[in-house]
Amino acid sequence: YRVISTKNLVGNLWLEILQKYECRVEVCTDRGVLSNEEIVGAIGSKCDGVLGQLTEKWDDSLFNVLKRAGGKVFSNVAVGYDNVDVPAATKNGIVVGNTPGVLTEATAEMAVSLVYAAARRVVEADQFMRAGLYKIWLPDLFLGKLLTGKTVGIIGAGRIGSTVGLMLARGNKMNLIYYDKYQNKQFEAKLEAYREYLSHTGESTIEWRRADSMEEVIRDSDVLSLHPNLDKTTFHLMNSERLQMMKKDAMLINCARGPVVDEVALVEHCRENPQFYAGLDVFEDEPLMKPGLKDLPNVVVVPHIASATVWTRRGMSALAAMNVAAVINDLPPWGSPNVLSFVGESVEDVPP
Ligand code: GLV
Ligand code: GLV
Repeated sequence: YRVISTKNLVGNLWLEILQKYECRVEVCTDRGVLSNEEIVGAIGSKCDGVLGQLTEKWDDSLFNVLKRAGGKVFSNVAVGYDNVDVPAATKNGIVVGNTPGVLTEATAEMAVSLVYAAARRVVEADQFMRAGLYKIWLPDLFLGKLLTGKTVGIIGAGRIGSTVGLMLARGNKMNLIYYDKYQNKQFEAKLEAYREYLSHTGESTIEWRRADSMEEVIRDSDVLSLHPNLDKTTFHLMNSERLQMMKKDAMLINCARGPVVDEVALVEHCRENPQFYAGLDVFEDEPLMKPGLKDLPNVVVVPHIASATVWTRRGMSALAAMNVAAVINDLPPWGSPNVLSFVGESVEDVPP
């Protein structure tokens, strides 16, 4: 079989998996972002499967080219797949793969890192030290925010969102509210067990609830962490109106996808509310930031690296390779947003 990977991935396991399943792998590039024309060229006249990146737009015409080259599978090396036109892939008979599970903890840990960095002004204080400005210890130097006893709000309580919620509820005794169209019973059972444990020990306990509306979560949270998929319904979910509903000294964390937040409105909001903090791993026009964002002291920014640990990226690479190897061998992939379409069901019908 001929398989292409639009970028070189991490570790060797992914290559070993593909070799074991008789796939000859061609890596297109180490560093650059391929245009769709270059991808068409790389697919050529015969290609059984592709490992692709979130920086590429996989649309109907690309899937058509892949189908005509005899392709059966497109494996996105990411859990998010907003860069993939899944219905177009389905129409062309192409199974789409993604990498759920392996990156849950890494991504959640980055969300929590951004919470701590924002709450305790770690980046501002680091810059202050490096600039040689630490001359005298003062009782009110870099006052930040205490998390214990405050409320964390989770929008999108799937694998990553619920893990962030548990890390902050258990680790920092934060109260928790979440909003999701699906009830996450496992998440609720863990929160309830922790709440009961605390009340039995006589310590101050936590409260948690599933909110009826997203606005309720937005209004009541001291830390609001966003974890939905990006689609038409979540584009600019945090717009100017919803930002206004947040507490003036709250923190907004986004490790999902940039366009979930109206970044221009966020710049405006952070400028007008110096006590408000934002921690961002993703941006609307990556790799760019909207004008003004980088000048705000109350914003912490990192370059879409929430899943970037060695273990996690090796795992994602291997999982993406397994998705390709499985489909080529007529087996179900590990993670897929459309494989059920081929047996007449939709992932939309399956709760997390
Ligand atoms: C990274 O953003 C991913 O979706 O895996
Ligand atoms: C702070 O350094 C303290 O000792 O309270």
